[in-house]
Order: sequence, then structure tokens, then C-alpha cells
Amino acid sequence: MGDSVVIKINNKEIKASPDQTVLKVAKMHGIDIPALCYLEGLEPYGACRLCLVEVIKGTKTGITTSCTLKVQKDMEVLTDTEAVSNYRKILLELYLAKAPNSEIIKEIALKYGVTETRFSKKIEPQDPLQNKCILCGLCIRVCESMGVTAISYIGRGSYTRINTPYLEPSQDCTGCGACAKVCPTEAIKIEDIGKKRIMISWSKTELNLKQCMLCGKYFSTGSFVEHVLKNAGQTDEELKNLCSDCRRKFFSKKITALSIFKKQ
Ligand code: SF4
Ligand code: FES
Repeated sequence: MGDSVVIKINNKEIKASPDQTVLKVAKMHGIDIPALCYLEGLEPYGACRLCLVEVIKGTKTGITTSCTLKVQKDMEVLTDTEAVSNYRKILLELYLAKAPNSEIIKEIALKYGVTETRFSKKIEPQDPLQNKCILCGLCIRVCESMGVTAISYIGRGSYTRINTPYLEPSQDCTGCGACAKVCPTEAIKIEDIGKKRIMISWSKTELNLKQCMLCGKYFSTGSFVEHVLKNAGQTDEELKNLCSDCRRKFFSKKITALSIFKKQ
């Protein structure tokens, strides 16, 4: 981390570290900037464009995404100018057309007084992503960050979608569900039915759920448990068969899983 610098956001002086992004600094100081494709811990990608801000540096002014912009000495940032607001309004109209069922898009749009779109809405009755996807790519990036490539962009232009290759059930998906957790528009559908996890949005990829040998709860997919333990270099069979709660209890009491099992 380099020496801190002073920047101005909305005319307020703020001390920040040059390795921080404008978006992060703004968030830390309670300045609201819409940011749908940003996730702490993942490299920013600048996909949704909603986090646009106006930047003044010396004599130059520009509009850029705050999630990808690192703070610099004497930088001035304005988060809600008319120009920024107009850009966001257009983007929100596009998203209202692209993802007409997304509540978060409607909510943000409403804040900007946008309730209708001039673009034609694309409603697909069988859309695996429930007509909520804005193609921000966060699900793909988080999947890759888990060391898996189960989903990707497929198709081109206005036919671009996110799904498994050839719309076939994925051989690589571990069913971890991270994609659904990070999706800003709650587009991804996953259901646990009996002993199976079904990744409905991902070509109905099916995975077997693992049952905890102590409490009997179905806690994760077998593939995900194997994947995590393999990456952690663990081969302990007991670890594979315990849910996180029982695993904690098991290690904190320092007794064997088998003896607990027998007592119950
Ligand atoms: S499914 Fe969600 S996370 Fe993935 S691209 Fe669409 S909106 Fe983004
Ligand atoms: S959060 Fe910056 S572009 Fe999406």
C-alpha cells in the first residue's frame, strides 16, 4: 500500500490509499453509487456501467466507471451530476428492456425517475434466467474464481446469453451455488429436491447432495465437497461427510465422529 492521497468526492475531502478504487472509497464513506457487477474480492470488470462518475483531474474531465478507477492525488469525483444521471437513466432503460422481471433494476430505475423504457422488452417465456439477467458476467467470474468453468457467454449480439456450453447439463459444475449468491438480479434458479440439487438455470444440471453423517442434514453437493477438500489437500473421510456445523462441533470437542454417532 502506497502513501495515502487526498481526493474530493462530491466536494468532500477524503484520505484514501492509491490502491483503492473510487467506488470502494465512496462506499466506505457512505456515498451511494449503484454498482451491480462489483464484488469485493473479485477483479472489477466494469460490465454494468451503472457506477459511472464524473472525474476531474487538472484541466481534464471525463466520465468513467468508478469500480475500475484507482484513486489518484488531487482527483475530484462527482457522483451525481446531470451528465452522470443521464447516462444512468439510459442504462436503466436498457436494463428494464433486457431484464424486465428484475426487481432490483426496477428499484434503482425508480430512484432515477425511470419507470418505462423506450427499448423493446425481451420477454422469453422459457428463459432459464427468468428474464432477469443483465449479462453482467459476475456469475461467470465467480465460477472461474472457484476454479471451475461451468458457464460462459453463449451466442452473439442480441442473442448473447449465459449458460452451459451447448445448453447441455454441465460436467464441470460442482453445484456450489456461488453464481446464484452473487447474481445481483437474482436471475439464477437452483432447487434442492430430495437428494438432488438441480441447477435449473444451467441446463438443469443435476448433482447429488451429501448427507451429514451426524445430523442427517443434506448440506452440500458431493462434487463441491470433493472439489474444496482436494484444493485444500485434505483427504480425511470424516471431513467429507460432515456438515459445517457438525464439523465445527466435531473439532472443538476433539472427539471422533464415530463416537458421537454411536451416542445419538
Ligand atoms: S445471471 Fe446474474 S450474475 Fe450472471 S450475468 Fe446474468 S445478471 Fe449477471
Ligand atoms: S459496478 Fe462498476 S461497472 Fe458494474
